Amino acid sequence: MLIGLQNVTFEFGARVIVEDATWHIQPGDRVGLIGYNGTGKSTILKLLVGQYTPSKGSVEKGRETTIGYLHQDLLSFDTNESILEVAMGAFEKVKALEKEIEELGKRLETEYENEDLLLLYSERLHDLEVAGGYTVHHRTEEVLQGLGFANEHLQRPYKEFSGGWRMRVLLAKMILQQPDVLLLDEPTNHLDLPSIEWLEKYLLHYQGSVVIVSHDKFFLNRMVNKIVEVYQQELHIYSGNYDYYEKEKEIRVELQQKAYENQQDYIRQNERLIERFRAKASKAAMAQSLMKKLDKLERIETAEIERPNIKINFQVEKQPGKIIASLKHINKSFGDIEIVKNGSAEIDRGDKIALIGANGKGKSTLLRIIAGAETFDGDRVWGHNVEESFYAQHQLEALNLNNTILQEMLECGSKKTELELRALLGCFLFSGDDTDKKIRVLSGGEKARVALAKVIVSKSNFLMLDEPTNHLDMHSVELLADALNKYEGSLILVSHDRYFISKTANKIWKIVDHEIKEFKGTYQEWVEWNERMAKQKADDGKQKKEDNDKKQEVSSKKLEENISSKNTNSSVPINKELQKIQKQFQKAEEEVSRLNTLKAKLEADLGNPDIYKDVNKFQQTEKEYNNIKQQITLATKNYETLFEKIMELEN
Ligand SMILES: Nc1ncnc2c1ncn2[C@@H]1O[C@H](COP(=O)(O)OP(=O)(O)OP(=O)(O)O)[C@@H](O)[C@H]1O
Ligand SMILES: [Mg+2]
Repeated sequence: MLIGLQNVTFEFGARVIVEDATWHIQPGDRVGLIGYNGTGKSTILKLLVGQYTPSKGSVEKGRETTIGYLHQDLLSFDTNESILEVAMGAFEKVKALEKEIEELGKRLETEYENEDLLLLYSERLHDLEVAGGYTVHHRTEEVLQGLGFANEHLQRPYKEFSGGWRMRVLLAKMILQQPDVLLLDEPTNHLDLPSIEWLEKYLLHYQGSVVIVSHDKFFLNRMVNKIVEVYQQELHIYSGNYDYYEKEKEIRVELQQKAYENQQDYIRQNERLIERFRAKASKAAMAQSLMKKLDKLERIETAEIERPNIKINFQVEKQPGKIIASLKHINKSFGDIEIVKNGSAEIDRGDKIALIGANGKGKSTLLRIIAGAETFDGDRVWGHNVEESFYAQHQLEALNLNNTILQEMLECGSKKTELELRALLGCFLFSGDDTDKKIRVLSGGEKARVALAKVIVSKSNFLMLDEPTNHLDMHSVELLADALNKYEGSLILVSHDRYFISKTANKIWKIVDHEIKEFKGTYQEWVEWNERMAKQKADDGKQKKEDNDKKQEVSSKKLEENISSKNTNSSVPINKELQKIQKQFQKAEEEVSRLNTLKAKLEADLGNPDIYKDVNKFQQTEKEYNNIKQQITLATKNYETLFEKIMELEN
């Protein structure tokens, strides 16, 4: 065993987090630590690293075991060092060796006859090699790049980076240290899809054991071979991935429920007996002993699944005009990194836009531009009566840690009374005394709920949400998606949760070549459309080749025909039948050429990105295009048949 909990009980005041929990982490374990928001996952990691001490039981750790721990909250760590240097902090031993070697080298310049010194020097060089000292630079760069840093970023000071990027630097440093056990508290929250995929691959080949807290089903399914669930103050261990856990939990719950019902039957029977015995003086002793038996009985709890249901209900106070916001000729770049170039777009009332695209394309930047939280060139014009609310990516960091939950709500500028705010907080599962909890002690999900409550209290008719599902447990994500669906206002959101996007958006925006491209449709439709376009492109390539082959054939035939018709004119007597067919032939030829012109025009239309802004128009054009292609095939056949007839008649 590397590290583990032995019969551990831990509580915050009266609030029990775990009772009598035992869990050992073995070499090679890949564990997903799961549970609803606020059940105590982060707390358990803190118990493991010794930040908290159990009130009962013990934390056991192998003497040699090294641990790397990544916080859920971004650390307030700040430094002028470059991110490369910060990450290279992983190699303290190498750094110390390098320094020692340098000093020894200097001494050797004067004491070159000191054999002991020379021996030490060469020993240290050897140590450096054993410690992988010559590859650390390269390895650090590789990891940083995997996590999304461009080469030119590596020398920039750490403190210039936003929270999410800082977290990646710390993550890089930690995985470079290669501890025996990695404890990662929601590492995917601040990552986009490509970085998540990179992390997946990296962790799959990681030598040590890994414990990951995550609310991401897909990630867990790929990453872990064991699930530990914090549920009803106990740790439940499942030896499989998330899918296995789901199935197995259902079975366990069913079994428990059966056992519970059986026990309840048994209790009722005995209670009836006790009642009867009590009535007779002669049986009183038996009643007594039965009662004792019942008292001693270890009660099985009902297995009905307990789940926290937050009640999210976005409301709108004022109706806005038809247009929510228009963006005109937006230009934005960071130094020489271009984000948006002459971008224009419009947000209409009723739009629920998902802004998608790879890391670094500027999704959050664009959102901040719309929200007015970022400088830019160009115009952003609000429509009539728009009341907006912005949920920024690092919203949680914007909460005042020293406030209580209630204070935080009171300070956010709504005109609500304390009573009303308490009621609202109740919907977010903060009841009674909870509202006096300091923001500082809240779990990630609880902070997210406070931030969401702040958005809701504003009753805005336009929401800008940057990664709103971060920190929320799967069940709460579901509830949030439902609430956004029912929301009467308009919204634009950034999310890397494909499931969430597909449940909420009716329009897709994507930044392509620094322009804002719009697709009117759901995420599902967008995916299908993309597949269709890719297929069509492939088919078109084939078709074009066939068309070309045919054209060549036809034109050579035409050449022949020209020659032969010349011959006809001069030497062969005019045949009426032939004349008729020749006229038809000419028409057929004209028809083919007319259709080809049309086809070229439609092709040009389809090649213009603007067309994708309007799904209807796009679909119609696409239909016409397919239609024309069919007509061309028919017309060409006709043309060829006629040509053959002419040939026949002429010979
Ligand atoms: N120092 C503290 N004092 C009092 N209560 C605390 C303290 N730290 C955490 N809590 C409470 O203990 C509970 C468990 O918190 P923890 O952060 O471990 O949850 P979690 O399972 O990690 O949740 P999440 O999924 O939201 O991150 C929460 O209700 C939290 O408010
Ligand atoms: Mg947590």
